[in-house]
Amino acid sequence: MMEKLIIKGGRRLSGTVLTSGAKNAALPILAATILTEGKSRLLNVPDVVDIDSMRKLLSTLGVAVSSPGEDRHIIEVNIGALSRLEAPYDLVRKMRASVVVLGPMLARYGRARVSMPGGCAIGERPIDMHLAALAKMGATIEIDHGYIEARARQLVGARISLDYPTVGGTENIICAATLAKGTTVIDNAAREPEIVDLADFLNAAGARVSGAGTHQVTVDGVDGLTGVEHSIIPDRIEAGTYALAAAITGGEVTVSRCNPGDLGAPLEKLLEAGCEVETSEDSLTVKATGRARPVGITTQPYPGYPTDLQAQWLAFMTLADGSSIVRETVFERRFAHVQELRRMGAKITVDGDMAVVTGVERLQGAPVMCTDIRASASLVLAGLAAENSTVISRIYHIDRGYERIEEKLRALGADIARKRA
Ligand code: UD1
Repeated sequence: MMEKLIIKGGRRLSGTVLTSGAKNAALPILAATILTEGKSRLLNVPDVVDIDSMRKLLSTLGVAVSSPGEDRHIIEVNIGALSRLEAPYDLVRKMRASVVVLGPMLARYGRARVSMPGGCAIGERPIDMHLAALAKMGATIEIDHGYIEARARQLVGARISLDYPTVGGTENIICAATLAKGTTVIDNAAREPEIVDLADFLNAAGARVSGAGTHQVTVDGVDGLTGVEHSIIPDRIEAGTYALAAAITGGEVTVSRCNPGDLGAPLEKLLEAGCEVETSEDSLTVKATGRARPVGITTQPYPGYPTDLQAQWLAFMTLADGSSIVRETVFERRFAHVQELRRMGAKITVDGDMAVVTGVERLQGAPVMCTDIRASASLVLAGLAAENSTVISRIYHIDRGYERIEEKLRALGADIARKRA
C-alpha cells in the first residue's frame, strides 16, 4: 500500500513531544538475544518497521518472539536452539542492520550464513572490517553465492584495531567476543550511546564488557549468557529531529523522555544558529528566536555531529540568513535529499562531500520523494516550514525509523496527514 504525507506548512510548532526508544540500540540488542539462553524482555522498543523486520528475522531463525501485545513497545524473546542459521537475502536487502546477527550466531552456534548486504542509497557501506575482525578471532569466512559463510568451532579473543570506528562492526565484534575464549580488545571502537546500551544489556545477561563508550572496549569471554529484562535508551536522532522541527518552524518544543547528554554536538549547533536551548536530565526545549544564523556542520563519529542528523540540519539551513557548509564525512553519497529540497526552492550546490547551502527567505511546497530514513525526515522538516502544500511520497522510508511521525507532529500543531495514494 503506497502512502503519502501531506503537509500544509507555515505553522510554528509548540508543545511537548515524547521520544521513542532508539531503533539503532534496539536492533543490535534484539540480535544479541541470540547469545542468551531463556527469556529476555525488552522495554521501550520503538514501534517502527525496522523493528518488525528484525522480529521477522529472529522468527525465521527459530527464535520465539512475542507478537505485538497491548503495549507494542515490549518485546519478549525466548531463546532455545535456533532452527536455521541463515539471514536470508530478502530480509537483509530490506534492512542492512540485519548483519548484526552475524557475530551472535557465529559465537553461539559456531556457524552463520548471512546474505551479503548490497549497496544502498547513502553509500557503499561494506562490512569488510566486521569480517576481518571475526577472522582474527578464528573464524573462517567465505563468500558463497552472495552469502557470507562464517564458521568457528570456538572463537578466541584477539586484539582488534579498527581502521574506522564502525558502529555495526563494533557491535558484531563485542557480541562475538562475549562467548569467545579469552579476552578481546577493540581499539578505535565506535563510542555511540547505542554501543553503551548494547554493553549494558550484555553485562546484565552475564557478559564481561568494559570500556563501552570509549575508544577501547575490552571483552572477557564467558561460558554462557542468560535472558534479562532491559529498557532501550531514548532515540537521540528522533529527539534531534524534533528539536530541529522546532527550530525550522520558528517554534518552541520540549522533547521529553530523551537524553540531552547524547545530543551535545547538535544542541551546540542550535545555540550557534541563534536558538535558545534548555536541558534537564531527561528533556530538552528548543526555542527559535527569529531567522537562523548560518552555521556549518561536519559529520563525524560520536561524539561529533551525527550523520543521521545531517539531512535535517541541511533542511534547517536552507532558510538561514546566509550561506553555510555541510560536510558529510561518514558516508560518501548521503546527499539524496538535496535534489528534493531544491524542488522546494532551496539553493544548494554539492561538491564531493560538501554541500553549500545559501539560505532563502521561503521554501515552496512541492511533491517530493523519500530516498532513505533521514533524507525523508529532512523533507518533512522542509514541508513544515514551506508555503502551501508539500506531498511526500515513498514514506515507508520514514516509517522504518520514526514512530507515528505525523501523530507526534500534529500534537505539536502541524498540519500533516497520511493519505493512501
Ligand atoms: C550505523 C547506524 C546508522 C548510522 C551509522 C553511522 C544502525 C542500525 N545504523 O550504521 O544509522 O548512520 O552507524 O553513525 O545503527 N565501513 C566500512 N567497512 C566496514 C564497516 C563500515 O568501510 O566494515 C564504512 C561505511 O561504509 C561508512 C562508515 O564506515 O562509510 C561508517 O559505517 P558504520 O559506522 O559501520 O555504520 P553502520 O553500522 O552501518
